[in-house]
Amino acid sequence: MKPNNDVGKEEYFWAKDRMPILSKIIKKYSNNQILSDINIGMCLHITKETSVLVMGLSGAGANIKLCAANPLSTKDSIRDFLVRSNIKVFANKSTEIDSFYSNMDKVLDIKPKIIVDDGGELHKKATARNLSSVGGTEETTSGVNRLKTLSQEGRLSYPVIAVNESIAKQLLDNRFGTGQSTIEGIINVTGVILAGKKIVICGYGWVGKGVAKCAKGMGAKVTLTEVDPIRAIEAFFDGYEVKVLEKVLPENDIFITCTGQTDVIGRDHFDKLKDGAILCNAGHFDVEVDVNYLKSLDPNHYEVKDKVTCYEIGNSRSKKRIYVLSEGRVINLVGAEGNSPEVMDISFSNQFLAIVYLLKNGYRLSHKVYKPPKKLDTKIARLVLDAYGLKIDTLTSKQAAYFTQ
Ligand SMILES: NC(=O)c1ccc[n+]([C@@H]2O[C@H](COP(=O)([O-])OP(=O)(O)OC[C@H]3O[C@@H](n4cnc5c(N)ncnc54)[C@H](O)[C@@H]3O)[C@@H](O)[C@H]2O)c1
Repeated sequence: MKPNNDVGKEEYFWAKDRMPILSKIIKKYSNNQILSDINIGMCLHITKETSVLVMGLSGAGANIKLCAANPLSTKDSIRDFLVRSNIKVFANKSTEIDSFYSNMDKVLDIKPKIIVDDGGELHKKATARNLSSVGGTEETTSGVNRLKTLSQEGRLSYPVIAVNESIAKQLLDNRFGTGQSTIEGIINVTGVILAGKKIVICGYGWVGKGVAKCAKGMGAKVTLTEVDPIRAIEAFFDGYEVKVLEKVLPENDIFITCTGQTDVIGRDHFDKLKDGAILCNAGHFDVEVDVNYLKSLDPNHYEVKDKVTCYEIGNSRSKKRIYVLSEGRVINLVGAEGNSPEVMDISFSNQFLAIVYLLKNGYRLSHKVYKPPKKLDTKIARLVLDAYGLKIDTLTSKQAAYFTQ
């Protein structure tokens, strides 16, 4: 450790050095101070990668207020580093559950021109307050789904770019990033070996695909549950067992929810699990496993080790222990450090460019949810190729013309 003992600062530099694309974008826009005096309200997981984005936006001239997108995911060392760097941060891991929503209000008090969110809560609050921002961005699937509902009801008070719907983001962040960090979180928290374990993954979307691939790579026997027939056949042809949740409850060791839905594992399921089953969630909110119902079954639940809660359910003749990791909150952020800097490099480059795009174009957009413009997606993909020293072929003019015939 360096003598100044500034852990947060060291973590910031560690992440920044692994985020070449965002660093390049930051350098360009810091030079021309494109965000000079622009108020930006942000609600993100407070991690070392987020600090690179926040410091970059601030370096390009923005005034930022930041709160946490998820109670328990805040890295206090990073919060302290940002505060010391004159960023207004409203987050504190130990009090986060109580102040989660009031912190969002503090962020919105600056009447942000741009609102950056991860999960849709800040956008929901901004809409309720009828804030007429120039625009917003949304980082994750759950948030995008909620915003689409608001938009259909005509209640969105500004245009939102669904950064999550960038192909580069879904492919790299949701799939490869969350895939790896979810498995990392489970191993960190439990210390169990995955080889030979029977694992059920609920949901074969971008996140589920990544988690399934990593779990299989570690030697686990993976079964998928789905509600979408297309995703289900994709899982089957990718080589996984596809089954109904009800049927696999008694025979599997670990269950990972990756759906964005509520009560995926709930009151109808717990008593069918085997003794010692482990439950965790990689979707955005802590409702995928109905932890509240488990609490009602065992008010005396207790922590067997940090972030592992044991619920003893059943009667005295057949008692079972069910273990829930990180209180059902995102295991990759609570049990590990979230997605790796290389992955967040791409997601946050998308965020930065989407913010610049909104400042230039937000005034002429309707109050709807937009996919990132194709131009932006292609630009990021080219920057990724450059960063990794990869070259690709180009269509000849004859080939380009052939496509249009
Ligand atoms: N932990 C993280 O760092 C992280 C990163 C990215 C996304 N997310 C979150 O993960 C969740 C999934 O994201 P995604 O991009 O994979 O979404 P997605 O829409 O691509 O996939 C979700 C899948 O779950 C399936 N599903 C829905 N309800 C189900 C149920 N009851 N049982 C089984 N399957 C069901 C859907 O059919 C779909 O195929 C979202 O909540 C998203 O916000 C978390």
